[in-house]
Amino acid sequence: MIKKRVAVLISGRGSNLGALIDACAAPDFPAEIALVISNKPDAAGVAVAREAGVSTVVIPHGDYASREAFDAAIEAALEAARIDIVCEAGFMRIHSEAFVRRWEGRMLNIHPSLLPAFKGIRVHQQALDAGVKISGCTVHFIVAELDSGPIVAQAAVPVLPGDTTETLAARILIEEHRIYPEALRLLAEGRVRLESGKAVFA
Ligand code: GRF
Repeated sequence: MIKKRVAVLISGRGSNLGALIDACAAPDFPAEIALVISNKPDAAGVAVAREAGVSTVVIPHGDYASREAFDAAIEAALEAARIDIVCEAGFMRIHSEAFVRRWEGRMLNIHPSLLPAFKGIRVHQQALDAGVKISGCTVHFIVAELDSGPIVAQAAVPVLPGDTTETLAARILIEEHRIYPEALRLLAEGRVRLESGKAVFA
């Protein structure tokens, strides 16, 4: 099997990165993590990648004068590693439109809510404030508009009385670690594709 070469973009803890690395370790998984890119040198996820022996590049966004210049550095790293698919996992930068267009249909993100509800940041607080009884997580194709791309996979969890952002986040994170590898498998096997702005499942 020729495995798809995946880059994971991170800014923080890297637990979804860890879940993707674990899934890719299975011989029959259709993708391998070939590169991790962090915009933060001290992100815990950088250590997760290094411990797993995955090549890691730190590209601090502050070193670049513009979004375009930062994305060009990312693009160069992706090209050098011959990347097929990009998975964002807690990557806290917004891309230029040109970058998103170039990777359209080949770039996924995970978001800790049932999109289209609760886009952006402080997502768990938004869910608690809204008083929803169910929340969850979403893997979606990345498009120019933030947290708005076609949905590849979702999982729901209950919001329980007395939940804090921490307890809700922890319950959702378990599902994130389950559905992100599933979504990557679908994309790597060509069982989902982006067509005319919609996710099409084979
Ligand atoms: C996750 O909750 C993910 O959904 C969101 O950022 C968080 C990243 O966590 N986009 P981790 O770095 O994967 O542990």
